[in-house]
Amino acid sequence: MATLKLGILASGKGSNFSAILSAIREGRLDAEVKILISNRRRAGALGIASESGIPAIHISPRIFPDSVRYDQKIVEELEKQAVDFVVLAGYLKLLTSAFVRHYRNRILNIHPALLPAFGGQGMYGINVHQAVVKRGCKISGATVHLVDELYDHGPIIIQKSVPVYYEDAPEDLAARVLEIEHQILPEALQYFARNRVSVSGSRSNILPD
Ligand code: GRF
Repeated sequence: MATLKLGILASGKGSNFSAILSAIREGRLDAEVKILISNRRRAGALGIASESGIPAIHISPRIFPDSVRYDQKIVEELEKQAVDFVVLAGYLKLLTSAFVRHYRNRILNIHPALLPAFGGQGMYGINVHQAVVKRGCKISGATVHLVDELYDHGPIIIQKSVPVYYEDAPEDLAARVLEIEHQILPEALQYFARNRVSVSGSRSNILPD
């Protein structure tokens, strides 16, 4: 079993990041968070990291001429901390193919729907739940998947569903799905820590312990 050296990329409140920290503290995840990086100065995730004594840096995309140079800066900061696994915990930028190649099959994303449904560019946050409610789906859920060069496209590691009720507002569904996210993201990471994930093409297999 290897202790994962995690680099977290986050753009928002950071509740998924908090779920990772809880799992580590409670002995459910063999990992340490080496650094948290956000593209948004006001991301709540930065405050959570700082309060936990974890290096937390805001890197503004505006000071870089393009996304290739931006991602190079992020990879540089991750390498400084000897990060060997990257988590997109609510990160709203598409990674460049150079970044994905650098950490091939070592980047996880959490998406608040059952991919491939309700995924892809523009499908993030409340937009997802609005689309699910509007479509009249009877179930939704969350997906943890490896990241490749396309939005929400890499091999799926874990999915878990929740019911959608007729009277649900998108916010009701978002809260129900978020609870699932906080369960399956640390669970998926632990499979990698225990080297239990095999990937073949677009499919993953969780090997016995
Ligand atoms: C979550 O809903 C996640 O599915 C999506 O972005 C949101 C992040 O929430 N990728 P938080 O910042 O982890 O609270």
